[in-house]
Amino acid sequence: MVHPVTVPSRRDTARLLFATARALADGGVVADDFLKPVRPHVPAHVLDALRPHLALPDRRTGIRTIPGLLDDFTGMEPTPERWGLPQTGLTRALDVALTIVAFALGEPFAWAGQQAGRLVHDIVPTQGLEDKQVGASSLTALEWHTEDSFHPERAQVLMLYCVRNPDGVGSRVSSIRGTGLSGERLDLLRRPDVVILPDDSYPSTWQEDGADGSPADAVRTVWDADDGLCVRYDPPYSRFLTADPAFHDAYRELGEALERSSVTVGVGTGDILLIDNDLAVHGRAPFRPRYDGTDRWLKRLQLRLPRPRPASEDRESGYGQRPLRVGVPADPPA
Ligand SMILES: [Fe+2]
Repeated sequence: MVHPVTVPSRRDTARLLFATARALADGGVVADDFLKPVRPHVPAHVLDALRPHLALPDRRTGIRTIPGLLDDFTGMEPTPERWGLPQTGLTRALDVALTIVAFALGEPFAWAGQQAGRLVHDIVPTQGLEDKQVGASSLTALEWHTEDSFHPERAQVLMLYCVRNPDGVGSRVSSIRGTGLSGERLDLLRRPDVVILPDDSYPSTWQEDGADGSPADAVRTVWDADDGLCVRYDPPYSRFLTADPAFHDAYRELGEALERSSVTVGVGTGDILLIDNDLAVHGRAPFRPRYDGTDRWLKRLQLRLPRPRPASEDRESGYGQRPLRVGVPADPPA
């Protein structure tokens, strides 16, 4: 006799996730422990319960919103003034819960040179960075970009979790697959004619000509995956290797098309937003920070998936920035 498989409801799964993460955090586990060679144990039934409620970003829009899995994390502490401040037990449990969700989707990883190698980043408006092109900015628009566009081992998927967003500041996303650029323009943008340097969230110890003295990496703005167009784009940190006016026209047209076909995704407390970092770029509208503990507060994790990129990227230096990686879990969702 075949017994039907029962999928726990989203509500029951949220309760299970909260209880699991809380027990781990109460036992002294922090999210970064998941990067260690011997990782905290997450029971298989917790990952099994999560997976039916998760899906990777849509391969046309590059977006997926996942509500309701962290509904038990209520009464969070005030928004910190900057990343890296001591956190309450509840916030440490939230970071553990988000890491568990990330493992159910792919392979979360960190950057040795960003937020001290932490797996879970805090994205909060920070005094002194209001006008920078980094996630901690506020008064300036965060321009369209591929996350960590300068690096060949950048995330395939960005995972953002909204702790609070009282003013409803939307995350902006735009997919290369909605731009409708002509084949001629796309061919120009497939040329390796751009250099992209590390952004201001990394310490400025890198060398433009590569960590080993080799020439700077030449990057293709548009590349092709098996199922369609992908993009690698970060104008504020880019310089060009060609003076060809046709290329510059195509690059400018790409920016205009991304702006035209963009969407603003509203994220509220408890929402997870997944962005496909290969086919979509993201940004953020400006907003006025309050610095009183009530500001917008996002958590960010970065995920690797077993998806190929152009072989030419294998030769890039990544300007000495090093990903901190763990093992790949079995059976990520399709
Ligand atoms: Fe970003």
